[in-house]
Amino acid sequence: MTRNLRPLMLAVALLAAGPVAIAQDAATLRSRSLAASCAQCHGTDGHTPAGSAMRALAGMPAPYLAEQLLAFRSGVRPGSVMPQLAKGYSEVQIGQLAAYFAGVPAATQP
Ligand code: HEC
Repeated sequence: MTRNLRPLMLAVALLAAGPVAIAQDAATLRSRSLAASCAQCHGTDGHTPAGSAMRALAGMPAPYLAEQLLAFRSGVRPGSVMPQLAKGYSEVQIGQLAAYFAGVPAATQP
């Protein structure tokens, strides 16, 4: 048998290391890369620069965030850019974004 078993051994080692931890890391990475699209306007990790007129998303409750994104997407909540932008995300992705920003500690007031 000439098959290279290294990939299999690696998979076994990763499973032994803790599949739950690895799955969570992957999910966090996916959410973080989704959230990167929001950084241009809402700041890195939802932290707007001091004095910005833009609301900081960091630390807002996940249900509130998800509800706003769904409302923008369906047209219930009007806006300048968000209605168009929210249409690009599935409900699962909206859930991931909401959970991600809710999990980032809000910046302390200067
Ligand atoms: C091009 C700039 C821009 C980008 C990119 C952007 N936003 Fe926004 N966001 C806004 C503006 C402007 C508003 C105010 C509503 C409006 O005019 O559309 C807003 C409002 C919001 C609100 C409502 C906040 C509140 O206080 O109720 C949420 C939630 C939100 N954005 C989430 C996101 C998420 C999540 C992303 C990334 C997927 C994102 N935004 C990307 C500009 C942006």
